Amino acid sequence: MSDATNTHIDIGKDVRTSSNPAEEAERLRKALHYHSHRYHVLDDPEISDAEYDRLMQALIRLEAEHPDLTVPDSPTSRVGAPPLSKFDTARHAIPMLSLDNGFSDEDIIEFDGRVRKLLSAETPVLYTAEVKIDGLAVELVYEEGRLVLAATRGNGEQGEVITENIRTVRSVPLVLRGGTGHRVPPVLDVRGEVFLDHEGFKKLNEQRLSDNQPLFVNPRNAAAGSLRQLDSKITAARPLQIFCYGVGRTSDADLASHWELLRTLKDLGFRINPLTRPRIPIEEVLSFYRELESLRKTLPYEIDGMVVKVDNLAYQTQLGIKSRSPRWAIAYKFKAVQETTRILDIEVQVGRTGVLTPVAILEPVNVGGVTVSRATLHNEDDIAQKDIRIGDTVFVERAGDVIPRVVKAVVSRRTGEEKIFRMPTSCPVCGSNTVREKNEESGKLEAATRCINADCPAQIKENIKHFAAKGAFDMDGLGDKLVEQLVDKGLISSSADLFRLEKNALSDLDRMGEKSAQNLLDAIETSKEITFGRFLFALGIRHVGEGVADILARAFESLDQLMDAGMQRLMAVEGIGETIAEGIEHFFGRPQNRELVGRILESGVHIVYPVPKTAAPLDGMTFVLTGTLEKMGRSEAKKRIEDR
Ligand code: IVH
Repeated sequence: MSDATNTHIDIGKDVRTSSNPAEEAERLRKALHYHSHRYHVLDDPEISDAEYDRLMQALIRLEAEHPDLTVPDSPTSRVGAPPLSKFDTARHAIPMLSLDNGFSDEDIIEFDGRVRKLLSAETPVLYTAEVKIDGLAVELVYEEGRLVLAATRGNGEQGEVITENIRTVRSVPLVLRGGTGHRVPPVLDVRGEVFLDHEGFKKLNEQRLSDNQPLFVNPRNAAAGSLRQLDSKITAARPLQIFCYGVGRTSDADLASHWELLRTLKDLGFRINPLTRPRIPIEEVLSFYRELESLRKTLPYEIDGMVVKVDNLAYQTQLGIKSRSPRWAIAYKFKAVQETTRILDIEVQVGRTGVLTPVAILEPVNVGGVTVSRATLHNEDDIAQKDIRIGDTVFVERAGDVIPRVVKAVVSRRTGEEKIFRMPTSCPVCGSNTVREKNEESGKLEAATRCINADCPAQIKENIKHFAAKGAFDMDGLGDKLVEQLVDKGLISSSADLFRLEKNALSDLDRMGEKSAQNLLDAIETSKEITFGRFLFALGIRHVGEGVADILARAFESLDQLMDAGMQRLMAVEGIGETIAEGIEHFFGRPQNRELVGRILESGVHIVYPVPKTAAPLDGMTFVLTGTLEKMGRSEAKKRIEDR
């Protein structure tokens, strides 16, 4: 394995050319990898930028003269590769999970309580606490110490292949560093967060302003936009950075704790956030959070909270995961940022399930770096209870990715001109009556006002958008605007119609050439191969989100079996309560929905079912993996057990 740290020659200043071009290229590559790591990961350079550039120029020249000497992980690949025509997708060998959120000390204390109870721990459990970087999760796959693939998190199961873009991120090692006491693992998936720091973000937007291009609203969006570039030369010009915080597959079975894992990653050349607090009891987790709250403003990059992880890896295995997040970790998010502004008007939106949501149209205001001009008001009761009126000065709040919301009105600033809002008695889109249903048990009115017309164009549009979106059929190129056009022009009136679209009709639409029409049809064709879980999620059944859809997909052998299950059978599934079961029964109880499913399947959609349950000899058993395993790493062993 290449290891520049052990070659303590002054590689920086020496730009001599060896007579053997292959040796010379290898020497320059080692030197550049070494100095790049010193500069971008350790923040401790040994040579000047000018010297670094000279080495780079020498290598670029050499590779140009001898193209056969170019290797994929050469430092010259950091400048970008020829543009792609589209992104491939890659399945994560081990799913990339998300985190449960906590918002108060109580939430974190409860989390600790749950952990200790599940572990039957008598002594306090120790946690490693990290900052939660507000960027994008990526997975980096290394084989024999070389970066071979990088992918976005995507839906957690599979993401987009962005290897060439990731190569341009200077703090991502292209080649792992061995020789510091660590074997280079044959296979290693490293996970981390890609982000832009405040300075990088500011410069990028200044550049865009002078180029007359639309500005990015915040560093996170800018980082996302930069990673989703088909032309990696554009990505190379954006100063993206990474902090790594975990692994997928790893062959290192000797590790006992998360903190050791982070240190090993550091030795291998990855950038680990220096603010990490290793192995602390829950009380210190809480005081570290206070520290981070005040440090936050001084950091050169955006953080949106803290991540608390059970440090002991055997405990992590024992605790396991729920549908989409581990039981051994939680995100402790920062309090939302608030600002005041004025409500200019209140509009009513009709959602996928017919719910009418009042939306405040605001005088635009900057809330924690993002311009907010709309905010949700939830429902009629909420507005009445908070006595929010059109014309009021209000507090608006934004918490992470959540849609901004109106918190309260500043009554002292009223002029008397404010108007009280009334929920419309007819749907603003289709004119049908609206209702507030009565909850059968409590006899109380539900908070939501609904449009009763299942054929309301608003519901149809929202349902189709949901059907085609990421996590569902994932039809690339079929955005919200296009769905609206297709429905408005009468080309489709249900999701099943998407599979019957024809090229001629598409090419006539606004901003749709023949090529993009063909691309869209290709994307629709590809989407026809779909997992059971995604298919169920796509149907838009009330209360069936991605997590519930996955549970159902694992619990039922086929769609037919699920459709005819009935309340009892549904509620027998762990994780499915009465509300969800009712949603499912109601959905499949409607003949229109059964007909829709039939039409979708007739158009050639093929549902891919998970491995059948009968092949699960380990069902219901609990495993604890500790100590060193001889033939494989712990996560590999865990995966194999789970597969069975
Ligand atoms: S751990 C199973 N650690 O937060 C654990 N995530 O809300 C999964 N993130 O998708 C993630 N900093 O994009 C972890 N120190 C950190 C993190 C972190 C930021 C992001 C990551 C993840 C999301 C979960």
